[in-house]
Amino acid sequence: MKIIGINGSPRKEASNTRKLVRSVLDGAAEQGAETELIDIADQMITFCSGCLTCYTTGSCIFDDDAQEIFALMQEADGIVLGSPVYILSITGQLKQLLDRLTDAIHCQMLSGKYGCSVVTTGGSSDQEVLVYLNRTLNLFGVTVVGGERVAMASGPEAFHEAITDSRILGRNLAEAIATKRRYPEQEAVLTSLQKLFSQYAEVAKEIYPHQYDFWQAKGETHR
Ligand SMILES: Cc1cc2nc3c(=O)[nH]c(=O)nc-3n(C[C@H](O)[C@H](O)[C@H](O)COP(=O)(O)O)c2cc1C
Repeated sequence: MKIIGINGSPRKEASNTRKLVRSVLDGAAEQGAETELIDIADQMITFCSGCLTCYTTGSCIFDDDAQEIFALMQEADGIVLGSPVYILSITGQLKQLLDRLTDAIHCQMLSGKYGCSVVTTGGSSDQEVLVYLNRTLNLFGVTVVGGERVAMASGPEAFHEAITDSRILGRNLAEAIATKRRYPEQEAVLTSLQKLFSQYAEVAKEIYPHQYDFWQAKGETHR
């Protein structure tokens, strides 16, 4: 079992969020998972230009670290997203990566995987950003097992507690993967996303042949 964690903070080793991502991965490792942590700040990722070549051909016009990170996400059984709150949202660096993966959302390429998210904040919006990240995982087809968030303004004890809870979250993630745990409410959401995107591929097959071919190859019709 492989689990990849992506820290969206640019502060690398100094990052509060990284400590939570690390703790989730440590918890998963206790359950036997092989883990890898990626600092987004170490990666060269170009802004999505919105050309939609990926919809048409399945390839991006930019050759940078986004492809490599996505390959690791595809290889993994579990995905952990982490971000600090930056002006009521995730960091630009993490958003930049997510935007580059829009074709993977349309083709539901991460379907069948499990994931969770962690968020740190100065004092507010951690709940909204955690919901955003977990909804984003769902959008890729990933089943979400939970999340952890903490406001640094709540003090070191709260942060320490969040680190402990993140470790439990990581164990939970690994267990969900090992047992193929079912989440019926999310299954309904994920099925409706598959339907939406496969229908879209059918409607847009002349302009986005790659997405049409992808869904055809999957044998998913949903029409
Ligand atoms: C550019 C920037 C924007 C931020 N925006 C917010 C914000 O909107 N609300 C908030 O409560 N904290 C905000 N913060 C504080 C961070 O969310 C907080 O310090 C977080 O724990 C940093 O995580 P990191 O150490 O992983 O980078 C901001 C910090 C920076 C540098």
